[in-house]
Amino acid sequence: MSTLVVEELDDRVVVTLRRPEARNAINAAMIGELHEVCASLEERPRLLLLTGGGGTFAAGADIGELRRRGREQALQGINSRLFDRIARLPLPTVAAVDGYALGGGAELAYACDIRLASPSAVFGNPEPGLGILAAAGACWRLRELAGASVAKQVLLAGRRLDADDALRFGLVAEVVPAGDLLKRAHAVLDRMARSGQLALRLTKLVADGGGHPLTDDLAQAILFESDEKAQRMDAFLAGGRS
Ligand code: COA
Repeated sequence: MSTLVVEELDDRVVVTLRRPEARNAINAAMIGELHEVCASLEERPRLLLLTGGGGTFAAGADIGELRRRGREQALQGINSRLFDRIARLPLPTVAAVDGYALGGGAELAYACDIRLASPSAVFGNPEPGLGILAAAGACWRLRELAGASVAKQVLLAGRRLDADDALRFGLVAEVVPAGDLLKRAHAVLDRMARSGQLALRLTKLVADGGGHPLTDDLAQAILFESDEKAQRMDAFLAGGRS
């Protein structure tokens, strides 16, 4: 991996964004590598701790790449699909935000289940200043997390939320000294890891709510354990077509 440091533990994966030369701006390589992490967590569900190296969470999508993108790339939802995939990971995710989380970097943090911040954390969505909109979740996730009034201040008036703001508005769970941030994030994950894994997984599905695909997944989960499914599939595999 060229843009991430990935530490695989038994019950969790720790991912550190690492593009210090670009303040961890999210480029195509990082998108691809984060998709690889998602694939591994979908295959073998574990908790995820996501953080940024070098005193920055992520300074946004890579503006050099954004400059070259047109309508076709926008319609591909390059960032939004990744962040949705992260939001839908089977087990909970925690973002440990030290320093700037701007633009797509903020949206990446918004896509996690829980955020912890260091006192230097700054959340913002300056996209309109670049002539674009925050299309990878900020327009609706920030509203869900902090309410419409705060979201509109950030999205429309360029307000940056410092760590105290983020705590007051419920965007982050805690503000922790930078040196303790990862330790505290691990403690939150330790608490989660003591829960039943299936219970945690289904709680996340239900808490995220909505109809599809939640109802589909729950219905399938029930059917996959049914005797009838086993019998019918065994019969097919034994060659007995009805
Ligand atoms: N995309 C591409 N490169 C970026 C970047 C981004 N989103 N954010 C920072 N960088 C690069 C800078 O161009 C600079 O590169 P250089 O050293 O080759 O000139 C390097 O990272 C360091 O950035 P710099 O601005 O010098 O650091 P800083 O500590 O003074 O400021 C920020 C940090 C985050 C406040 C500032 O970099 C910034 O405003 N970045 C853009 C934020 C933004 O608009 N994000 C939304 C994108 S959708």
